[in-house]
Parts: sequence; C-alpha cells; structure tokens
Amino acid sequence: MDAIKKVTDYLGVQFESNSSFILVSSVLLAGIFTIVAPIFSFIRVLFSLFVLPGKPISSFGPRGSWALITGASDGIGKEFALALAKKGYNIILISRTQSKLDTLASEISSKYGPKISTKTLAMDFSQNKDSDYTALRKLADGLDVSILVNNVGLSHSIPVPFVETPAQEMNDIIMINCMATLRVTKLIAPGMISRKRGLILTMASFGGFFPTPLLATYSGSKAFLQQWSTALGSELQPHGVHVQCIQSHLVTTAMSKIRKTSALVPNPRQFVQAVLGKIGRSGGAQNVAFTSTPYWSHGLMQWFLSRFLGERSQIVVKINRGMHEDIRKRALRKAARDAKNQ
Ligand SMILES: NC(=O)c1ccc[n+]([C@@H]2O[C@H](COP(=O)([O-])OP(=O)(O)OC[C@H]3O[C@@H](n4cnc5c(N)ncnc54)[C@H](OP(=O)(O)O)[C@@H]3O)[C@@H](O)[C@H]2O)c1
Repeated sequence: MDAIKKVTDYLGVQFESNSSFILVSSVLLAGIFTIVAPIFSFIRVLFSLFVLPGKPISSFGPRGSWALITGASDGIGKEFALALAKKGYNIILISRTQSKLDTLASEISSKYGPKISTKTLAMDFSQNKDSDYTALRKLADGLDVSILVNNVGLSHSIPVPFVETPAQEMNDIIMINCMATLRVTKLIAPGMISRKRGLILTMASFGGFFPTPLLATYSGSKAFLQQWSTALGSELQPHGVHVQCIQSHLVTTAMSKIRKTSALVPNPRQFVQAVLGKIGRSGGAQNVAFTSTPYWSHGLMQWFLSRFLGERSQIVVKINRGMHEDIRKRALRKAARDAKNQ
C-alpha cells in the first residue's frame, strides 16, 4: 500500500477519501497478482520440467536393496524394472503371467549380470486372494525393499457409459487399481518406516485427474489413488519415506493401444526416464502435494488445463466426453468389422 501511495503521490493522483484509495489499491494489487501469478507459476513449471534435477534414487535406499514393481511384466512396469535393475537394485517382479515374468527376469540377468537378483510372483490382483498376499509377504519378508512402484492398472476395454459397464470389468478395475495398491503398500511400507527411508511411487492418470466420461470407473479409481497417495505422503514424510503420485497422459503401451510415439505420447522408456530423473519435483503438478507430472509435454498440458480451464470444469469434462464418445464409436465400428471378417 505504501508503494502505491508513493506512486500515486508522484503521479499527482488525489483520492477523495482513504476508502477510495484502499479500493483502487486493492483492485490494482489484484490486477498485478492476476498477471504475475501465472507467469511466476509457468517459470516454476519450466524449471521443474527442464532445468532442476530430481533427488538421486540412491538417497531412498542403497544399490543392492530391493525394488518391488507391480504390473512389472509389460509396458511402464517393465521399464521401471529394467531401469531400476540398471541402477543396481535387486528387483521383485509381480504380475499375472509367470511366463512373462520369467522372460523379464532372464532379460535382467543377461543384461546386468549376477550382481542383480530377481524374485518373481505371479498373482492375479483382480482375485484379491488372501493367499496371494500371504505369498507376497513371505517373498518380501526380511528383504530391504527400499522402492515400491505401485504400477499395476486396468482400464475399460473400450470407453463405455457407466450404466453399461460389465460388472466384471467394474470389479476388476477397483480390485486391481485400488485394492491391490492399498494391500501391497500395507505390506511394504512398515519395513520402510522401520528403516526410516524408502520411496513409494504410484501410477495415477490424467483419466483420473480430469474427470473422464465413458471411463467413469477407471477415472474414479485413479482419482482415489491421487487422494490416497497425497494423504499417505503426508503421513509417511515424518518417517523419512517419500511418497509420490505420478500423473501421466498417454504412453505407448498395450493399455493405451497406441503404438506410435509423438510429442504428447512417449514410449515407456522415455516416460520412466522422466519419472526417475525428477523424483521430488512436481513438474506440471504445481500445488498438488506429493505429486509429479514429470514428462515434459504432459506437465505443460496439465499446467495449462488446470491453470486456465480448471481440472474439473464444465469445459474440460465436455471436451473429454466428446473425445471418448468418438473413441467408443471407432472401437465399436472396428469390433463390427472384425466380427464380419471372421
Ligand atoms: N499407458 C498409458 O497411456 C497410461 C496413461 C496413464 C496412466 N497409466 C497407468 O500406468 C500403469 C501401467 O500401465 P501400462 O500402460 O504400462 O499397462 P499395460 O502395458 O497394460 O501393462 C499392465 C501390467 O499389469 C499387469 N496386470 C494386468 N492385470 C493384472 C492382474 N489382474 N493381476 C496382476 N497383474 C496384472 C500386466 O500383466 P500381464 O502382462 O501378465 O497381463 C502388465 O504387466 C497403469 O496403472 C495405468 O493405469 C497408463
């Protein structure tokens, strides 16, 4: 206010009363803030995405300790396994298909030699079986698991109106995305707390950050992971365990059904490199605690949409619905063509 008074005095502007001075000053300050805040925020995003390094992975646990990855046999999970093995961590690989886990375990040992150990467990998270979680507990028992990557995830086979979603698909999405993440973390986090160090990464999705019609159950499950992970991040921070929710737009994997990379769609290797290089940085997820959107184009996209449209705004939801209605139409046409050709 003093600075504004000096400027108005210098310009010779007279106010009729003190209250009109306060009103004009407030409007002026609000205007300056409205212009400066996005510029400042954008500079923060650019620094976070392109300039500042993340924390070294070894600060969460030494090389030779263990990294546990769910959904490890394909896509993003497989790249996490290869990247962490390359950095010197022993790897626990969990997913559904034993043969794919065996192939990956052999790839890791042929690439990184006998210094890197692997353990595998095939379990179907959609079954939510106590016996599987007991087997997982036994497998990890006594191991120094310093990194947990909650990566396993399932989406709808094609975009579908909620009321037409098959009951089995609905159940599987919740069991795999939500229940598996909770149960695996509950098994692994106590060891990290007792060692006063560790890193827990959880794969969320723009499908949950921006409400996504026709993927309503998937969208809700990923929004759940975002909230849960941020809350957990705060709980575990005093224990020296770093929790980070990873936000992402599309990546070329079996789930996205996209094969060609582009500026907006990296391959799993590019994506995982960005994640591991930016631990502790928020990227495009400004003002979302314990969260990162580390891939550069995803980060810029999230920042722009959140800042100027609002992540749950009418316009964002409407655009998202239009996109997914189109994808559904194309998927149904393809299914009809395939059925005809059989
Ligand atoms: N790809 C994207 O565009 C994208 C975007 C945003 C977020 N995400 C998230 O990133 C994570 C990884 O996605 P992705 O695209 O890499 O997926 P993906 O290529 O489909 O791989 C999924 C992995 O999860 C395993 N899996 C699936 N169902 C399972 C079950 N019932 N029990 C145990 N394991 C199971 C698969 O094992 P099998 O090989 O044995 O089937 C595979 O290893 C997911 O949480 C996803 O929501 C992906």
